[in-house]
Formats: sequence, C-alpha cells, structure tokens
Amino acid sequence: MSTSDFTKLKTSITRRGFIREAAAGSAALTWLGGHTPNAFASETAKPALLGGAPVHQRGWSEWPKWRESWEPAVLRVLRSGKWFRGEGGHVAEFEAAYAKLLGAQRCLATASGTTALLVALHVMDVDAGDEVIVSPYTFVATYNAILINKALPVFADTDPATLTMDPKSIESRITDRTRAVLPVHIYGMPCDMDPINAVARKHKLGVIEDACQAWLAEYRGRKCGNFGDLACFSFQNSKHIPSGEGGAVTGNSDDLMDRCHAFHNVGRATGNFRGEKPYFTRGSNYRMQQFQAVILMQQFDKLVQETARRRENADYLSAQLKQIPGIQPARLPETSRPVWHLYPLRYDATQFSGLARDKFLKALSAEGIPCSGGYHEQYFDGLLDEAINSRGFKRLFGAERLKAYRESFQELKGNREVCATTVALPQNLLLAERADMDHIIEAIRKLQKHSAALR
Ligand SMILES: Cc1ncc(COP(=O)(O)O)c(C=O)c1O
Repeated sequence: MSTSDFTKLKTSITRRGFIREAAAGSAALTWLGGHTPNAFASETAKPALLGGAPVHQRGWSEWPKWRESWEPAVLRVLRSGKWFRGEGGHVAEFEAAYAKLLGAQRCLATASGTTALLVALHVMDVDAGDEVIVSPYTFVATYNAILINKALPVFADTDPATLTMDPKSIESRITDRTRAVLPVHIYGMPCDMDPINAVARKHKLGVIEDACQAWLAEYRGRKCGNFGDLACFSFQNSKHIPSGEGGAVTGNSDDLMDRCHAFHNVGRATGNFRGEKPYFTRGSNYRMQQFQAVILMQQFDKLVQETARRRENADYLSAQLKQIPGIQPARLPETSRPVWHLYPLRYDATQFSGLARDKFLKALSAEGIPCSGGYHEQYFDGLLDEAINSRGFKRLFGAERLKAYRESFQELKGNREVCATTVALPQNLLLAERADMDHIIEAIRKLQKHSAALR
C-alpha cells in the first residue's frame, strides 16, 4: 500500500494518531465486542450513499498501535545515547530474531524497504543498462529501486486470478540484458515461486523477492523471504510490523549477505567480503537505527497473533464472498498461506447492474467499510517516461529499445484487468470480530440488491 493510500485510509477511519494499546495481546481488540450479530438485517435498507443508515457504524481498530510495556526498552535506548547501529546491539539482535522467525540463515536490517531493494539489486549485480523483470502490480518503490540503478524495469504480466506475477509471462520478456527477476508478494499473497525460479534458473538470472508486504507469508511450507537469492521487507508505519521506517534483506548465502552488509555500511569489509585496502568496494549508508530495532523487537508476538487473526477472518470472508455473483476472492498458489496486507477481491460490474467499480467503492465506504481500488496502471503516470527520456537512459539503451519498451506497457492485459476491477480492504479490518466480517458481507449484498438505483 502506498503512503498516500494509507493516509486516505487513516483519515477515512479516524483522525487520531498513533494509538496506545494499553492491554497486551488480543485483549486490545475487545472494545469491538459485545455486538450481537444481526445476520444481514439491513440488506434491504436503503444504501448509505442514498441516505440510508451505514451497515457498519462503530469504526475499526486503528493502526499502528503500541503497548505500554514497550516503553522502558525505547527509553533505555534514548537514555544510552547509543542511537546508531555501530554503538549498540539492538539492530544485530533484531536481525538474528527476524532471520529465526522466517527460518532464513541471515537477515540484514536496513533503513527502509526501498533501501533493502537497493542493496539487493546492487549485490545481484544489476548494473546500468541492465533489465530486471518485475511485477507491475506493486507499490511504485519497486519500480524506482530498479530505475535508480539505471536499469529498466521490464514488466511481466499480472495473473488476474492471483494478482501476482504470471510465471508464463516471464520468458518472452528476457533479453541479453536481463539480470534478475523481481516478483512481488503483493498484499502478502505469495507468488507462485516454483515456476518463477525454474525460468530464472534456466536463464541464469538472479531472483529477488519483494516481500515488503509479506511478513510470515508461506509458500509450500516455507516462509517468503527464502525463495529468491535475496528478499526484501518493509517495516514502514502502515506495515504489519512497523517501526516508522525500516526494512530488511534476508538470504541463505553468507557470501551474498556479507556483500549486502558491506554495501549498506558504506562499503566496509564484512565477513569474508574484504579487500587489501579499506575502501575496496562501493557502498552507501542504508543502516537501521537502534530505535527502529528496539521497537521491532517488541512486536514479534503481536505479529504472530495478528497474522493468525487476519487469516481466520480472511478465510471466512473468502468462503462467504465467493458465493456472491460478481465477487471473486483471489486464487492462491496451492499450499500457500497469505498474510493479507490488504484483502483484495475482483469486482464484476455486470453482476451489479453495471455499477462502475469507483461508484461501488464510494458506496461501500459509505456503508462504513473502508476500501480502495488497489494499484492503478502506474507505468502511465509519467515516471517511466521521465526515466527513459533522461540523458542516462538514452545513452544506456538505444532509441529503438526504449520505444519498444514504452509500447510494451499496452501488452499488460492481465494487469490492466486487475487494476480496473480490484476492490481492496485494509488489513486492520481483518483484526476485528466475526460479526464485523458479517458487516462487510452484508454491505456488499446490500449494494448488489440496490445496484440499479446506485448506478
Ligand atoms: C511492495 C512494496 N515494495 C517496496 C516498498 C518500499 O518500502 P518502504 O516504504 O519501507 O521503503 C513497499 C512499501 O510500501 C511495498 O509495499
């Protein structure tokens, strides 16, 4: 989710800021309790957009939350004056704990998800003039990380059923400049990594997972963050484990992870990655601060508990919503377990008297159900035109390649369909009670019943 989407979501729910979660664990959600489910009673009432009463009237749990019990640890860092990674152990402690949580060999904490991607792309040797095959259905930071390396983000298509990279669309996009494939586990839904890795192996390409929305998501019994050469996570404020800003790279190769560490730490020697002179390699400063690490360390139990809650509610929603004509929950790769950073469904207006998706979104929001259309076709927004018209890109790629590249956006039919028909619910809705899930279902049924009037 982009920061602006998140800002809109926050203002649509509440204007209050960072919320204190006074009690530990799921007890913090009990304020939502005490409701007697009134199974679909208001389905026949007038839609809120036309002056009726909203189906859901009591708001939703706010995000993010902290617990009072976290405060002493944060205060200790403040009072120590040891705020940067080089002077304290919290960042290293977080790295070890996060790697263990994911079952990965190594983790490197970074300043953000974007900087994690920059580190991974550099270490996978994505250089100026290279191409990276990437999911178009993602937050724009994924595109930018490639562009900043002066490489071309070449878009694979999106599978409309899964909303993730269509593995069948990769091979035809490989050129002699392709260095890596960058699938995105969007909304915490794992990509089908086996066929993606198979095609990457066949063509000797690196694989970087964008797992920035996929903390604890699983594919074939293993956690996302273990399927590529390297994987990237974000701990930005809207994320399921937030620290304001923050990120991580995970991997199972000591060589690659030593290189990542060196690059994120201004090129300083790490492990076996060293030279004869101190400044033997390029690097930047993408380090995480102690404050970020200590806040993240407090949240492991909360993340695990809330992930279970989101899964339970999402499974219930999917089972109910797929029975509504015109509503299609995402299809997941077999044996995968998503974590639902957003809960997406595909909307077919023809089953709603032709009610346009945007009007449906307005009407659903009016019923007290915050929602958005997810990502749009961002490659038409101008950033890629700006990049390919820049001196550097023109010099690195011939005019013919850049023209064909620009035209190739029109081929992304699956992605276009997903962008035009998705309805996405924010993750905090999935932290509520079963009765609140019934409100979501009830609201959609209500809109269907009144779709002709709403249109
Ligand atoms: C899919 C995806 N990739 C990359 C990023 C970038 O992460 P950050 O905002 O921490 O830099 C995000 C964060 O929103 C994201 O959702």
